[in-house]
Amino acid sequence: MEQNETIHTIMRHASLRSFSDLKLTRNQVETLVRAAQAAASSNFFQAYSIIDITDPELLHKLAKLCGDQPFIAKGARFFVFCADMARNEHIAANAGSDVSESVSGADAFLVASVDVALAAQNMMLAAESMGLGGCYIGGLRESVSEISDLLDIPDHVYPVFGLVLGYPAETSRGGEIKPRLPLNAIYSENRYVPAVDQTLNDYNDEMQRYYERRNPEAEHPHCSWAQGVARSLVTHPRNFMLAFLQERGWLRH
Ligand SMILES: Cc1cc2nc3c(=O)[nH]c(=O)nc-3n(C[C@H](O)[C@H](O)[C@H](O)COP(=O)(O)O)c2cc1C
Repeated sequence: MEQNETIHTIMRHASLRSFSDLKLTRNQVETLVRAAQAAASSNFFQAYSIIDITDPELLHKLAKLCGDQPFIAKGARFFVFCADMARNEHIAANAGSDVSESVSGADAFLVASVDVALAAQNMMLAAESMGLGGCYIGGLRESVSEISDLLDIPDHVYPVFGLVLGYPAETSRGGEIKPRLPLNAIYSENRYVPAVDQTLNDYNDEMQRYYERRNPEAEHPHCSWAQGVARSLVTHPRNFMLAFLQERGWLRH
């Protein structure tokens, strides 16, 4: 594999959920937000907004609402990443165009959801290159409606996930990089090739060894990666999302 500093930062990624008390400077926060903004953007819509949660009381409330994940409140910073078509609708209206039909369609939803994810991943990588770590918080969608109200989020904007960032706690073991699927499970040339079961089973075994290494004192064996995937899909279908999104002006057609 090619090696350089950027590839090294990317390959070293591991979610961090245990933070020191060190805070971020204004300059660091600005750097992170500008790094997010440097991401590519479909039609140059820049169809996202980032809400920086600086009110400690609000932060604690959100940590609870995000599926009760207290480590969120222990990070140095928590950003809520929103897909945002409201600003573009407003800009178009100022330019004399009514785009309400377009911004409520499936493609606008995809465009904004992709834009926000690209921006967030830029922030994550910038943070990791600065010695910080962090974790995405999709648990935010557990209370997506309540959180939208709490943060004054209007129609044609929705919070997609949070990102908690901070310096690693001294006790944090850090660097526990999760093995990824083998290349041939996710990469093919010229046509789609489904992964073969043997490859998936071997990877499942590799993940089992990873879980055992990570937590050798566990009394019960960690459920397998495959069981984890199945369990998450069964327990977190978040079937309320479509109704929520439609209520907020998304995915109407
Ligand atoms: C969109 C998204 C949402 C996530 N939500 C959560 C979350 O709510 N809580 C959490 O602890 N981890 C969350 N994660 C982190 C994943 O569990 C983690 O990225 C995955 O297990 C791979 O591990 P790694 O990031 O250490 O490589 C989320 C990741 C993504 C990309």
